[in-house]
Amino acid sequence: MTARDIQLDQNGRLRHFLTTEGLSQQHLYEILDYAESFVGVADRAVKKVPLLRGKTVVNLFFEPSTRTRTTFELAAKRLSADVLNLDVSTSSATKGESLQDTLRTLEAMHCDMFVVRHANSGAAHFIARQVAPHVRVINGGDGRHAHPTQALLDLFTIRRHKPDIASLRVAIVGDVAHSRVARSEIHALNTLGAREVRVVGPRTLIPSEIEAMGVRVFHDVSQGLADVDVIIMLRLQRERMRSALLPSEHEYFHCYGLTQKRLRVARPDAIVMHPGPINRGVEIDSEVADGERSVILQQVSHGIAVRMAIMALIMGSVVPASAAED
Ligand code: CP
Repeated sequence: MTARDIQLDQNGRLRHFLTTEGLSQQHLYEILDYAESFVGVADRAVKKVPLLRGKTVVNLFFEPSTRTRTTFELAAKRLSADVLNLDVSTSSATKGESLQDTLRTLEAMHCDMFVVRHANSGAAHFIARQVAPHVRVINGGDGRHAHPTQALLDLFTIRRHKPDIASLRVAIVGDVAHSRVARSEIHALNTLGAREVRVVGPRTLIPSEIEAMGVRVFHDVSQGLADVDVIIMLRLQRERMRSALLPSEHEYFHCYGLTQKRLRVARPDAIVMHPGPINRGVEIDSEVADGERSVILQQVSHGIAVRMAIMALIMGSVVPASAAED
């Protein structure tokens, strides 16, 4: 059974959230539209809505994370769920407990949702197949396969600046080969009918068959950035590289790093994005990362609203947007 099959119920509604591949425009817009209703929650004196009251969410992170883990925790708390953060490095996994036994143990505590990050591609899919029927699973990033909530929060941020997605040229720049974010974004942008999705980077960091995903490949950064509306920078994911694929970080910055000068070939109102963590002076210059075209910190803030929407949707806790805004 594919991730696509397992994440939808028999009525085609989201049951788990594992990948953007195979999701329809309707699925994506349902999340994006619903997330709009949660943005204002952050401005309230009491930053809470009761949609997941009585539910227990477990953050199960087998790989390091700052943004994804903390924004999922905040999102779950703002939905009034109880939240457990299992620190895998100090859990009984270090004493040889299998993933299945860890899951069964947590299920015995009547947990309702697992948010999973794992170094192995397919880990969230594997867990979704193991859990009891009432339990929901969200992929917080698995190997180089998928990071679907990052893709959705990126789309949300893009749409807030540039509502007509069909008119946009988007360039994804850097280590596409090891990027789960790039894969999830390419699927989602193509489903929403973006005018053009480009991938830009050295031959060693762009998969050879990637055109089949519906992207244009550029190895020259000036050509790749010409006239684009959105630039998504990626870091070098050295933890997933099996060999040295680059001469040096200095050389990489010289050839592919985003500087103010390089930014000039994009459209004058182009926005600069990055899923984080950023490596200043490697893939992006500080002047650009902190500059007026950068929406990098907006991406982080939007991650809370988007993750609230996804958690509420898959738990079936959908209320009219106006009620969420009360
Ligand atoms: N974008 C992202 O996944 O960041 P973290 O690794 O900090 O969660």
